[in-house]
Amino acid sequence: MLHQLHDLSDSASHATIASLIAAREAGHMLPAGLYTRPDAFEADLDIIFHRHWICVGLEADVPEAGDVYAVDIGRSSIVIVRDEDETVRAFHNVCSHRGARLVPAGRAIVGKLVCPYHQWAYELTGELFNAPHMGQEFNRGLHHLKPVAIRSIGGILYACLSDDPPEDIEELDRVVTPRLADYDLVNTRIAYESDIVESGNWKLVIENNRECYHCEANHPELCVSFHASDFGFDPEELSPSERDEAAALADLYRDQTEAWEAAGLASAAVEHTVGVATNFRTQRLIIAGSGESQTPDSLAACALPLGTAKKGTGDTHLWGINSWSHMMADHAVVMTLMPLSADRTLVRTKWLVHKDAVEGVDYDLENLTSVWLATNKQDADLVRIAQEGVQSAGFRPGPYSRFTEKQLDDFATWYVERMSAHGYGR
Ligand code: FES
Ligand SMILES: [Fe+2]
Repeated sequence: MLHQLHDLSDSASHATIASLIAAREAGHMLPAGLYTRPDAFEADLDIIFHRHWICVGLEADVPEAGDVYAVDIGRSSIVIVRDEDETVRAFHNVCSHRGARLVPAGRAIVGKLVCPYHQWAYELTGELFNAPHMGQEFNRGLHHLKPVAIRSIGGILYACLSDDPPEDIEELDRVVTPRLADYDLVNTRIAYESDIVESGNWKLVIENNRECYHCEANHPELCVSFHASDFGFDPEELSPSERDEAAALADLYRDQTEAWEAAGLASAAVEHTVGVATNFRTQRLIIAGSGESQTPDSLAACALPLGTAKKGTGDTHLWGINSWSHMMADHAVVMTLMPLSADRTLVRTKWLVHKDAVEGVDYDLENLTSVWLATNKQDADLVRIAQEGVQSAGFRPGPYSRFTEKQLDDFATWYVERMSAHGYGR
């Protein structure tokens, strides 16, 4: 009877979420419940975070053989390792004995992965090396750690928990790997890492990230090096002087993109945002001000360049399902999010410098990190008020600007497509 009640409430919940997804109106936000309901959060974990390629870290998280990095994804966890042959592998962070979590979230250096419960020990290839007191007839070969699909795209690690990962990761690889080659992210070091828990649904964090409509009023530090109009504006609403400025920037973009492309630097925007499983967008952006880096004075923060990247080659931005990054000639900033509950989201930021760069000699840490630390804090406040609004009685899903918020419309469309493709359609 209890079982039957569960089934009924599960199917009622499924029907409710499906009807909310079907109710989304093009050009508008999602219905409130998709940002607030615990069962919608569970559905997002199940469909988006367990069946798509999501950004989980960097090769720089496991720079040497024996390095281990465990990442929680909802209630699941994966363990990323670099094995003795320098191959990056990932496994479900679940012991093959009675299922205990093998290693806590975060980094460690190990010879073998040893479960704290009964000391089963695994090689970094996932093979079971030792299982005490299981008897002579016990076949260790049958109890390998369960592998997780993982790909390094230019040093950024994407994992998919599903046994049937979307094949269009190849498109991300094809477009992005050559664009990241100059930055040689594999040979970088994490100079600083920050975790913040934002008080909002992960989709509101993404929506906030996919527009710069809010930048001018909220991000004084970022706007020194960032053209707030990069992601769109309505020319009709500009004053004559603003219109001249926008036209000049558009000309500059056209000329600069042509010049970069002619120099062999892929720069034009690529959008793989709707009608796909693995969504992404990339473009080489012009850095405002002195043009070098996202720092308080827009000059390079680090004296050692990344790889073979050259000053004056802008900022290669990359958005994915749960991540956004900026690769510049002197450093890179990579942000990932993980949903914690319907109204809480972890945002993890890593600042990468050349692996030989020395703090205090080649860069000043505060100069390197201050712009995005400030920006993330400002964004967290915006996400909080957005969440407060969507959970209020008076909320109606508002319209996106077709000029400045096209990417949000695309994201909501992608979300509806993906949820529908996995059984939450009408
Ligand atoms: S649960 Fe890991 S050794 Fe028993
Ligand atoms: Fe922002």
